[in-house]
Amino acid sequence: MRVLGIETSCDETGIAVYDAREGLLAHVLYSQDAHAAYGGVVPELASRDHVRKTLPMIRQVLDRAGSDRLDGVAYTAGPGLIGALLVGAAIGRGLAWARGIPAIGIHHMEGHLLAPMLEPDPPAFPFVALLVSGGHTMLVRVEGVGRYRLLGDSLDDAVGEAFDKTAKLLGLRYPGGPALAALAERGDPGRFRFPRPMTDRPGLDFSFSGLKTFALNTLREAGDDERTRADIARAFEEAVVDTLVIKCRRALRAAGVARLVVAGGVGANRRLRACLTQAAAEENARVHYPRLEFCTDNGAMIAYAGCLRLAAGERAPLAVEAAARWALETLPEPGARPVTSD
Ligand code: KG4
Ligand code: ZN
Repeated sequence: MRVLGIETSCDETGIAVYDAREGLLAHVLYSQDAHAAYGGVVPELASRDHVRKTLPMIRQVLDRAGSDRLDGVAYTAGPGLIGALLVGAAIGRGLAWARGIPAIGIHHMEGHLLAPMLEPDPPAFPFVALLVSGGHTMLVRVEGVGRYRLLGDSLDDAVGEAFDKTAKLLGLRYPGGPALAALAERGDPGRFRFPRPMTDRPGLDFSFSGLKTFALNTLREAGDDERTRADIARAFEEAVVDTLVIKCRRALRAAGVARLVVAGGVGANRRLRACLTQAAAEENARVHYPRLEFCTDNGAMIAYAGCLRLAAGERAPLAVEAAARWALETLPEPGARPVTSD
């Protein structure tokens, strides 16, 4: 089974071809740059850019794969920006219909949490997944594909959102996460200490919106110079990483498993990766990461998840369907969704 994957849920167009036997054959990624001037993603601009890019990129990825052959098409059907999602869903659904092959809509976060399966040494089930992106901060116990139990969730800002908002008030360009991480490298770890939200009570939920306010107040009190900004970036990053590490340790113990998967854009953060690897070793557990380029949004994870579900006989109906909100725990096991006409 050979599947085309289409990801257009936010501000990245990701297209890939995955083959069940041969693995990932090709992938291309385009990150939109139209949003930086506005300090955040402008949904209508995102949709229009996906309209421009998706078809030429599909052509490109098929050329790279060295063959036009496809047995199915998978597209991100949610959660995300509805206009952006509908571009990928309409193109994917239409292409599958035109070719007479099946289509499937994939949950964006399922794509992220299965991304480490594309690596040479994939994790075995069960594992705990830490999903950290611009829209989500979740701890999930994963028994198998489509068997997800939510252990912890964000009560307010997602961790990537907290990075982006704090970066903005430090005067950094959108998307601020990587820029804030780079600035933090130059910061003094001893100058400020930020709180570790919700670590003083039991439970696995997160709350990161207070850290942004803490950063703003610190900036006002300490003065807005280059050195202070770097020191704040460092203190912010350490507080976030520390909080995530504490909750991951708890989740591993609570779930009684020895494998942790980290996925989503913030999973590209080097300090987080280093600290989690060390903490997991202390818990006699192992951490699995997707390669850096598959931590952030990409088409490969959608092609992979789509291949699993299409191979199990799942089919999307002919209607073009997408949802801005879609709870991960409601996903069925592969093949459990009704098979409808192609
Ligand atoms: O998964 P993703 O590409 O898109 C969503 O589905 O949201 O995640 C994007 C988020 C952004 O908030 C971005 O600032 C953050 O991931 N991010 C990082 C790093 N790289 C990306 N945050 C901290 N450190 C990084 N190195
Ligand atoms: Zn994502």
